[in-house]
Amino acid sequence: MPISLPAVASLVLAVAPVVTAALPLVIAHRGASGHRPEHTLEAYRLASEMGADYIEPDLVSTRDGVLIARHENEIGETTDVAERFPGRRRTLQVDGRAVTGWFTEDFTLAEIRTLRARERLPFRSKEYDGQFGIPTFDEVVALAQQLGMERGRPLGVYPETKHPSHFRGIGLPLEGPLVEVLERRDWNRKDAPVFIQSFETGNLRELRTRTPVNLVQLIDARGGPFDRRGEATFSTVADLISDAGLRAIASYANGIGPHKALVLPADGSGRLLEPTDLVARAHAAGLIVHVWTLRSDETLLSPTYDGDPAVEYRQFRDLGVDGFFTDFPDAAVAALAP
Ligand code: G3P
Ligand code: CA
Repeated sequence: MPISLPAVASLVLAVAPVVTAALPLVIAHRGASGHRPEHTLEAYRLASEMGADYIEPDLVSTRDGVLIARHENEIGETTDVAERFPGRRRTLQVDGRAVTGWFTEDFTLAEIRTLRARERLPFRSKEYDGQFGIPTFDEVVALAQQLGMERGRPLGVYPETKHPSHFRGIGLPLEGPLVEVLERRDWNRKDAPVFIQSFETGNLRELRTRTPVNLVQLIDARGGPFDRRGEATFSTVADLISDAGLRAIASYANGIGPHKALVLPADGSGRLLEPTDLVARAHAAGLIVHVWTLRSDETLLSPTYDGDPAVEYRQFRDLGVDGFFTDFPDAAVAALAP
């Protein structure tokens, strides 16, 4: 049963190193999502057992303004919503793109509670489909605090605001509820094991005024922040990773979360090329660097690693990154073991 007392969070913090660690932080991407359906309490619990330092919930909103853990607001791919609510399918614009499916903003939390999670990727096991529910962000934080207590070492949370402009535009902004949950759980503190991440820039700037926790600017391999589209500056990947862009990010965030190809590019066949200087330049700007996403699946691992995912973790460690998002925290922990 999740522990809900703020006092428990204080106890966790009393034994908690927060940001700095001898090794890169192992951030369980959507939980141990290589082993369980993503964004379920069971995926997060397994990540903790495997030795992850942080668990990552992506956050979207329900119709009644509750934050839940899903990678996107369209939930047809990762739940059984199509069978339970066939009439709710529709098409809408999300970040300038027409998307057809079932959307969290059309469902109350009570309705979301009736759904069961499914594996998204066709090359992963479906063994756990239909068994696990969809957690709220509050439940994820409570679980992290409980597991941190049980294992005697903190388990942090690394929430990502998904489609923040979209949700603000429909009257369901994500930032207020996110900070409220952290407040309620006594983790809206500078020393809490919390990073908030976003691909957009405006909401991170706003969050800087509302929370002292670590903020991370996500940067994709191409494109740019949706909320900067059409702007003359700070609107492309090249802008963000320039020295001036990194200095601008450092004015409101503690780190960057680049696609791993921005640190270690690959050619068209996935074979790796020479590393860039992004890690060194980000560090020079005072920013930590957490790359994403490392995965052991044969179809997703670069052929350069010749089937051995451990080589990838060690390579990024040796390139100086401060942490990495991985679907396989067990592989990361094993690869980094002394
Ligand atoms: O948040 C880091 C990484 O997870 C960003 O990509 O699409 O998996 O949320 P995505
Ligand atoms: Ca994410």
